[in-house]
Amino acid sequence: MSFDADCVLKGALLPDGRVADISIRDGRIIHVGAALRADQTVDCTGLLCLPGAVDMHVHMRGGKEQGHKEDWVSGSQSALAGGVTTVVDQPNTIPPLTGPDAFTERVKEATRDAYCRFGINGYVSGASDIRGLWEAGALAFGETFAAASSFGSALTIEEIAQAFSEIARLGALVTIHAEDVLPGDDTSLATHAALRPEEGEKKCMQMLAERFPPGLSAHFCHLSSPISADAASPVTFEVMPHHLFLSIENHGSVPEGYCKVNPPVRHEATRKALWEMWDSIPVIASDHAPHTTEEKSQPFSEAPSGIPGVETMVPLLLAEVYAGRISLSSLLKKVVTTPARLLGLPESTFLPGSAADLALYPRNETVTITADMLYSRAGWTPYEGMQGVFPVITCVKGHLSYLRNEFSRTDGLWVTGRGYKCTETKY
Ligand code: DOR
Ligand code: ZN
Repeated sequence: MSFDADCVLKGALLPDGRVADISIRDGRIIHVGAALRADQTVDCTGLLCLPGAVDMHVHMRGGKEQGHKEDWVSGSQSALAGGVTTVVDQPNTIPPLTGPDAFTERVKEATRDAYCRFGINGYVSGASDIRGLWEAGALAFGETFAAASSFGSALTIEEIAQAFSEIARLGALVTIHAEDVLPGDDTSLATHAALRPEEGEKKCMQMLAERFPPGLSAHFCHLSSPISADAASPVTFEVMPHHLFLSIENHGSVPEGYCKVNPPVRHEATRKALWEMWDSIPVIASDHAPHTTEEKSQPFSEAPSGIPGVETMVPLLLAEVYAGRISLSSLLKKVVTTPARLLGLPESTFLPGSAADLALYPRNETVTITADMLYSRAGWTPYEGMQGVFPVITCVKGHLSYLRNEFSRTDGLWVTGRGYKCTETKY
């Protein structure tokens, strides 16, 4: 006997306050209200159903050189366990994704291993084949390194300006890592922040903005302070959880090298001031940048920069919603609606026809975060001891991809950019 729906999520609370049954068929929501007849019914009583988050800045690592830090299996499972259903992978991989061949290899690896939807960006360098990357399916370009970081060397302003013109001609989005790095000994979180100051972010952003060709769609990555964020307008920007929850004075239970990240975590006063401008932050993304405990426990100057965060981003922020400090609608704008719009992805709604990319969270329950409950291969978190609200179910394309600590894969998860010209019959 065939049923009307493949699956019904029964009795879930929706963001608008309704309690409803969500009927799903062929990966899409087909009805919200009373349940249709279905092959499978999942009791969602007591669960809050939110659209899956779009994390537009992750480093999934993988490949031959970096799979010990993370790979597409562990990284995408980590995403699902944090309510993220789409990740956008940054191209500073080894090798970097400077042309269609490396890009296509990356797509194949992710297609084989990923459990969540993924887009992949093209790398911007003096030698990149921008058009080739666009036609191979790059979702956007960048993060473009205007300053050196882990696995990314700084480009000259001329190289960046030339790439901007090409990207503008294609009508693609470019994302930018803007910093100004001063010389000096980098031995602690305080010196790291002083050598990569917030005024340097602002100066670099302004210098780049002067070189924007007409019509360029640009987006600034991971701004760490109100000084830089105030300078971004009209360009959109991201803020990362580590700049909202960690500071030089308060870097969690981990040693300082673990919280080394670019741009750096700032002083407590700056962290608090960033929260004050919550309403004007367009996007929150994680900059999930896993490194192992072995790598991170080297002397500070040697430790690579980056913090894992795709799994804790929504949970930490949803705990803030439950504590009454921010609104649910403001959170959804920053982790679902605006990143999807900037990337040209379909809008996530509860209307029939919308993709069933959903995460269901306990309504009244926060948990204390510990490293051993997380799925990232990094194996550590600076958020240990903080409160989070984690999903118990995450659906991707209507598939129960994460169900009470069990994962299951579905196909067809690659999110291509608008320039994609299909040359392969199947990924
Ligand atoms: O701290 C960082 N780590 N910042 C970046 O921009 C790159 C990232 C990485 O890939 O490790
Ligand atoms: Zn990054």
